Amino acid sequence: MNCLVFLLVVVCAAGFVLSDAEDVSAKIRIVDSISDFKLANPDVQLMKLDSQSVRAGKTIHYSLGGRVAGDRLVGTSRGSHSWAFPQNIQLSLNYPTNGGSGAVVTYVSIHVNQTSNQGRGYVLNGGIGQRFISIIIEANNTLNFSYNAEIYGV
Ligand SMILES: *[C@@H]1O[C@H](CO)[C@@H](O)[C@H](O)[C@H]1NC(C)=O
Ligand SMILES: *[C@@H]1O[C@H](CO)[C@@H](O)[C@H](O)[C@H]1NC(C)=O
Ligand SMILES: *[C@@H]1O[C@H](CO)[C@@H](O)[C@H](O)[C@H]1NC(C)=O
Repeated sequence: MNCLVFLLVVVCAAGFVLSDAEDVSAKIRIVDSISDFKLANPDVQLMKLDSQSVRAGKTIHYSLGGRVAGDRLVGTSRGSHSWAFPQNIQLSLNYPTNGGSGAVVTYVSIHVNQTSNQGRGYVLNGGIGQRFISIIIEANNTLNFSYNAEIYGV
């Protein structure tokens, strides 16, 4: 767990802020294979987000959990960036922003547009039923990346 926290700090320090809205903090960074999280942490079992391709794979909808009666939108984040050459990038999202405890998370929905169909999302920390969540979205070999993330909770 210490290792996870440390790596996340490195991600944040190396990243640049795309946008901050409400209670989600978001960082995006370009990765190389050496710093790839899975390579650095081969034993960590990460919960994958469900993903669904739309528009010939260029829009990916990631989701986790499900809406429940009485939940509400508790955090949003959106942003976009483009590069001159294809990049492997990681977006890290953290709810709540201050790292404390927020609403109990029920559902996470993240729409991503990119120019490749190579993408994956997973939970680093916290999750459905907990008061915090940290998510990583990977997009490889892409010229641009735009996302719209929504977190619901009670
Ligand atoms: C992205 O590229 C990295 C480095 O090659 C690899 O470890 C990772 O599995 C790739 N992710 C996807 C979603 O293709
Ligand atoms: C991403 O690149 C594609 C292809 O060049 C372009 O059609 C699309 O508008 C770009 N999207 C963003 C958000 O820059
Ligand atoms: C993705 O692209 C579609 C079609 O251009 C657009 O309607 C949608 O708002 C975009 N979503 C994001 C998260 O950029």
